Amino acid sequence: MITSTGPHRDNVMAAEWTMQISYHPLLIAVFIHPSAATFKNIKKTKEFGVNVAADEQTSLVNISGGYSRIEIDKLKVRNSFNILKPRYIKAPLISGCIINAECKLVTMKKLGDHTMMVGKVVAIRYDKTKTPLVYHTSKYHRIGSVIEPFRQVVRVNKMTFEWFFAQADSRFVLKCVGALIKSEKRVLISSYATKNRSYTTIPYTVPKRGSDHEKTLQGYLKQSGLRVELKRVPIIKRLVVKNKSRIQRINFILFEGKLGSESANQNKWKTVRTDALLHAITS
Ligand SMILES: Cc1cc2nc3c(=O)[nH]c(=O)nc-3n(C[C@H](O)[C@H](O)[C@H](O)COP(=O)(O)O)c2cc1C
Repeated sequence: MITSTGPHRDNVMAAEWTMQISYHPLLIAVFIHPSAATFKNIKKTKEFGVNVAADEQTSLVNISGGYSRIEIDKLKVRNSFNILKPRYIKAPLISGCIINAECKLVTMKKLGDHTMMVGKVVAIRYDKTKTPLVYHTSKYHRIGSVIEPFRQVVRVNKMTFEWFFAQADSRFVLKCVGALIKSEKRVLISSYATKNRSYTTIPYTVPKRGSDHEKTLQGYLKQSGLRVELKRVPIIKRLVVKNKSRIQRINFILFEGKLGSESANQNKWKTVRTDALLHAITS
């Protein structure tokens, strides 16, 4: 619900096309039809309030979206809006919302039949006890359950878990890039070792954030003495490795490849089924 004041006095309108568009500075864009009283208010006073409705506020959204300030004084409707005092703007704020943001207009642009009005947030409050109202297919909804993006769960032994957990170094998802070099039911593997751990799996590395994964893998393979021709199509394997109650999320970006005949032969071939993680990566 967008609140404003100006030539049409204090007002509120429903605006589903409202979104954050920058962190620093914190910017919110609203898309408003030029015929709305709200449009004229904001254009004149260069400020507005963004009041993100809580899921018990459907009737308020209904009033603010169903009538224009030209028709009635929506904020005065009996048993409806409770006003919250703003700190830096003159437009009122709506009580009981999940978020109230006070915005100063920084730019506006006509795009199609609506106008984008971008506001810089100068004050914001968030009520974490509330849940937002969702508007979808012209109906109001309540937020349902959390959906975890699907990951294949792979139970691994303690040694394997510790290997990847250490590599993840507290990152939520460990992102790896590896080469999938298959011959019949077998796959090429490499051995990895540090002071007190060793591990055997497909040739892989952990690329730096923002680096080209394919190039990083090519560099890694070359450095390992492997001459591999990679296919350009990345495959993604989203896994969770689990040992007892501990878990680590791992993404493997895989490139299928063919081993050049002149490759140094310190790597081994392994039948895929012998290792749960290797099986998950390669299947
Ligand atoms: C749920 C809902 C969402 C709406 N979203 C928008 C929107 O994003 N932009 C817009 O211009 N109008 C939107 N409207 C329509 C306005 O709220 C409506 O035209 C209102 O009467 C304008 O009020 P005003 O003339 O007092 O400013 C929406 C209406 C509803 C019910």
